[in-house]
Amino acid sequence: MLPYIILSILVRLAGAQSGGKVLEKYGKQVQLSPPTTSSYQEWFDSNRVHSTRNNTNIEDFKTQLRRSLENTTAAYNSTFMQQLVEERQRYLEKLNEGQFINDQRRLVEELLDPNFYEKTVHPRKDYTQPTRINLSMSLYQILDVDEHMQSIEVNVWMVQHWYDEFLDWNPVDYGMINRTIVPYNQIWIPDTYLYNSEELEQKKTESLMNAQLETGHWSQKKNGAKVQLMFPAIYKLSCRMDVRWFPYDRQNCTFIISSWTHDKQTIDYWPLSSQVNLGNMARNDEWEVISFEFVRVEESFKCCAAPWVMLYAHLVIRRKPLYYMINLVIPTSIITIVAVTGFFTPTSSSSERDEKLYLGINTLLTMSVMMLMVCNQMPSTSTYVPLMSWYYIGIIMVIVVGTFLATGVLAIHGQKHYNKPISDRVRKLVYNPVVEFFILSPPTSLIDLWTEFGVISEQRHSTHLDPLLVQMDPVTAAKMKALRKNQYRMSMDTSQARSVKKQKMQRRCSLEWEFLANVLDRILLTVFCGFTFAVFVILVGFDSFFTVHTKSAHK
Ligand SMILES: *[C@@H]1O[C@H](CO)[C@@H](O)[C@H](O)[C@H]1NC(C)=O
Ligand SMILES: *[C@@H]1O[C@H](CO)[C@@H](O)[C@H](O)[C@H]1NC(C)=O
Ligand SMILES: *[C@@H]1O[C@H](CO)[C@@H](O)[C@H](O)[C@H]1NC(C)=O
Ligand SMILES: *[C@@H]1O[C@H](CO)[C@@H](O)[C@H](O)[C@H]1NC(C)=O
Ligand SMILES: *[C@@H]1O[C@H](CO)[C@@H](O)[C@H](O)[C@H]1NC(C)=O
Ligand SMILES: *[C@@H]1O[C@H](CO)[C@@H](O)[C@H](O)[C@H]1NC(C)=O
Repeated sequence: MLPYIILSILVRLAGAQSGGKVLEKYGKQVQLSPPTTSSYQEWFDSNRVHSTRNNTNIEDFKTQLRRSLENTTAAYNSTFMQQLVEERQRYLEKLNEGQFINDQRRLVEELLDPNFYEKTVHPRKDYTQPTRINLSMSLYQILDVDEHMQSIEVNVWMVQHWYDEFLDWNPVDYGMINRTIVPYNQIWIPDTYLYNSEELEQKKTESLMNAQLETGHWSQKKNGAKVQLMFPAIYKLSCRMDVRWFPYDRQNCTFIISSWTHDKQTIDYWPLSSQVNLGNMARNDEWEVISFEFVRVEESFKCCAAPWVMLYAHLVIRRKPLYYMINLVIPTSIITIVAVTGFFTPTSSSSERDEKLYLGINTLLTMSVMMLMVCNQMPSTSTYVPLMSWYYIGIIMVIVVGTFLATGVLAIHGQKHYNKPISDRVRKLVYNPVVEFFILSPPTSLIDLWTEFGVISEQRHSTHLDPLLVQMDPVTAAKMKALRKNQYRMSMDTSQARSVKKQKMQRRCSLEWEFLANVLDRILLTVFCGFTFAVFVILVGFDSFFTVHTKSAHK
C-alpha cells in the first residue's frame, strides 16, 4: 500500500506537466511526466522488493533510498525527501512490530487498489466485446410447491465463471500464488437476476459471499483472471401450475435467468452443461424430479435493439400420489360404500325412512369437508375441472341419487298397506329364474300364497317344498297338498272363509311389496357399490390406464 501512497503523492506533484508517458496498471491509466517516469518505475520496483524481502536494517534502507533518489533530487526538494524517509521509517517500524505484509495480503491489496481497479466497468479491455459468463446450477432441495399461490420455492447452488481482464497478476511477483479469494463486492460481478422471482430484494434470495480468482498468467490465451462466483440461493418463483390431473399431475416450472441491464453486447450467458446438476439433491417425499434442463435463448425486447441472452431452466416435477390415495380417496370410497349399504338395507320398520335421509345428508357433509381439503390445494381456476374434483362430484352424485332411490324404495315398500297386489307384469319382472338365481328368491310363504291364489303353477316350485312336507314321503305329501287345495275350494263360500281369505290377501300383498322392495334394494346396492368401486379403481389406476405422464420423460 505504502509505495502506492508515495507514488500517488509523486504523481500528483508531477501531474502539472502533461504529455508524459502513460503507465497502465490493472485497467487504470496513470500519467507521469517525462523526466521521472523511468526512474520512478525502477524506484518503485526496487522499493517494493526491499519492503518485502528485507526489513531488518533501517539505516541500510535509508542509504539505499537516498542512492536511488539521488538522480531525482533536482526535481524534488529536500523537505519532501525528509518526509519520504520519515514515512518509510514509520512503515518499517510497523513491520518490525510484527505487522508483516505477506504475499497474499499484498496481492489482494494491489489487485483491488481503487486507483487501478474500477469495479463498475465490465471487465474487457476491448469494451465492444461481451463478457462470456458460464453459468451452472445445482438443485439442492425443493422446499415448497404451493399450487394455490402458483409458486415454487427451491434451494439451489449457483456458480458463475468469467474472465476479468483487469484483475490479472503475475504469480512470480507474489510468491507463486495462483489463486485467491476476495469479497464479491470489491470486484465487478454481473447483475444476474431471476426474472420470475417473487422476491425482489437480492439479499433475501441470494447469499453472495466471496469470489475466487485464479490467475490467467499460465494460460496461453491471456484472457485475464478467471473469476468464480459461487453462492447458495433460495428462490421463490411464480410457476403456472396445471392441476388438471391432480393427484397425478406433473408441473413444469421455468427459471428465467439473465442480466437485468446488460444485453448481449456486454454479457453473454452460456450454461456450463445442458443439465442442472441433481447429484446433491435432498430427497423430497412429495415430488419427484423428472428433469431440469437449460435452454439458451436470445430474446429481443421492445425497448432496445440488441437482444438479451436468457437462460431458461425447465424444472419438471411429478407428484407422488400415494399420500392422496391413502388420506382422501380410500376413506371417501369406504364412506360411500358404507353409506350406500345403509341406503339399501331391507327395511323392517317405518321409522327408518328418516334415518336413510339423515344418513344421506351426513355423508354429503363428510364429502364436502373432504372436498374442501382438496380445494385448499388447488389454484382457484375456472378453466378446467381437476380429476380429483371429478371424483368428488361423481361420489356426491352417487350419494344424492342413492338417497332419492332409497326414498323411492321406501315408498314402494309402503304400498303394502293398501292391500293391492302387484300387477302381473311387475311380478313376472321380479319373479323369474334369472332374478331368483342372481338376486333374491321370494320367501317360501309368499310362494305358498301365490300357489294358493293360483297365480303360479305348482310344478315350478316342487323344489321349494315346505320343509314340513319334505320330511314326509312324496306320496303322503302329494295327498296332503291335494287335501289342502280341496279344503280351500270347499271353504270358499262360507263367510268365515271370506275373512280368512281377506287376511291371506293382506298377507300376500304385504309380502309381495316387501319382496319387490327387497329385490330393488339388492339391485341398487349392487349397482351403486359397483359404481363406487369402479370409480375408485379408475382413480387409483388412472396413471397406468391413461398415461397422463408421457413416459418418454423418463429417458
Ligand atoms: C536487502 O535486499 C537486497 C536485494 O534483495 C539485498 O541486495 C540486500 O543485501 C538486502 N539487505 C539486507 C540488509 O538484508
Ligand atoms: C544517476 O544518473 C547517472 C547518469 O544519468 C547514472 O550513471 C547513475 O547510475 C545514476 N545513479 C543512480 C543511483 O541511479
Ligand atoms: C519542498 O516540498 C515541500 C513538500 O512537498 C513543499 O511544501 C515545499 O514548498 C517545497 N519547497 C520548495 C522550495 O519547493
Ligand atoms: C466457458 O465455457 C467455454 C466453453 O466450454 C470455455 O471455452 C470457457 O473457457 C469457459 N469460461 C470460463 C470463464 O470458464
Ligand atoms: C501456480 O501454477 C504454476 C503453473 O501451473 C505452478 O508451477 C505453481 O506451483 C503454482 N503455484 C502454487 C502455489 O500452487
Ligand atoms: C416445459 O415448458 C417449456 C415451455 O414452457 C417447454 O419448452 C418444455 O418442453 C417443457 N418441458 C417438458 C418436459 O414438458
